[in-house]
Amino acid sequence: MPQIEQLSRRTPKVSVDELLQGFHPSPRFGEVSFASYRPDPKQPSQAGAVASLKDFAAAVDHKQPTGLRRLFGGRKQADSRAGIYLDGGFGVGKTHLLASLWHAVDGPKAFGTFVEYTNLVGALSFRKTVDALSSYELVCIDEFELDDPGDTVLMSRLMRELADAGVKLAATSNTLPGSLGEGRFAAVDFQREIQVLSDQFDVVRIDGEDFRHRGLPAAPEPMTDLDLKRKIHNDFSGRVVAADEFTDLVKHLEGVHPSRYRQFIDGIDVVAWHNVSTITEQAVALRFVVLADRLYDKDVPIIASGVPFDQIFTPEMMAGGYMKKYFRAVSRLTALAREGQKGEAAA
Ligand SMILES: Nc1ncnc2c1ncn2[C@@H]1O[C@H](COP(=O)(O)OP(=O)(O)OP(=O)(O)O)[C@@H](O)[C@H]1O
Ligand SMILES: [Mg+2]
Repeated sequence: MPQIEQLSRRTPKVSVDELLQGFHPSPRFGEVSFASYRPDPKQPSQAGAVASLKDFAAAVDHKQPTGLRRLFGGRKQADSRAGIYLDGGFGVGKTHLLASLWHAVDGPKAFGTFVEYTNLVGALSFRKTVDALSSYELVCIDEFELDDPGDTVLMSRLMRELADAGVKLAATSNTLPGSLGEGRFAAVDFQREIQVLSDQFDVVRIDGEDFRHRGLPAAPEPMTDLDLKRKIHNDFSGRVVAADEFTDLVKHLEGVHPSRYRQFIDGIDVVAWHNVSTITEQAVALRFVVLADRLYDKDVPIIASGVPFDQIFTPEMMAGGYMKKYFRAVSRLTALAREGQKGEAAA
């Protein structure tokens, strides 16, 4: 018999220390390396990105002492910016490469998502965050995105202060730095901040297909609810299955801060969602995206009944300012559903 729990009954608490300790790649990227990244020969930008990152890793490890750099004119020239910024579509291997960079350098080093850094500032204060991260050699920021003016001002200052302190920065995003925030808020009003932010980075573009679904057939059809119940009881003996009515879970998420979703799914081996339906509210959908990300980080297989995951968000959402987030979430959920329903390992 599996052990059944309900995510809709969990409300985790997280301390600041736990927040800081968590700044390393998730288990999925715990062992990746430049060597385990297989560049697509049809996409020369992929091998190019590996070469740029290897150079960057060497620069992080052999950088001049901060004091000397300050003495010789402080700010760096255009060809040696503090940061490298990987821009590309979902599933092309950006996080794999960013984590490979993190593994390749000695440190001290931090690895987190953009949202985790904004949460860190929220928990510690801006000044304490700068103080804590200034002693690092490398700060990796996965999934750089600007959702509101507050984040824009904050991250532009944080990036500049860290760069000035001699910290090397590496980021990934689906959006070029100069286009961050477009369609989400009046980004034109924050051009100055966005410019300061862009100035910290050299951009490396990565082209290619979504590696998770390369050459694979369409997503598996969801099960009937009866089959789902049978599967929960028959297939996961000795494992912890979080089984929820989908609408209950979505409602419950409103009361759990997204910064806690990592702890929220602690100890869960498999997720089972009964009667998945389309999420119609943007704020709810965005929270759900974060949950999908955390499940993907931990490689938790999903089994589900109801609508398929490509219908979990409305067509309006899939065409709006957050479309890239939603497409990425569908890609990730589909990979986890493949794993859960067909027994394939999710890439
Ligand atoms: N060229 C590659 N060689 C080997 N593994 C790869 C390659 N590209 C991607 N992967 C693997 O495919 C999965 C998806 O890649 P990854 O998460 O790094 O993509 P991403 O560009 O960060 O996507 P997202 O937009 O979802 O953040 C990962 O498990 C990664 O290790
Ligand atoms: Mg990624």
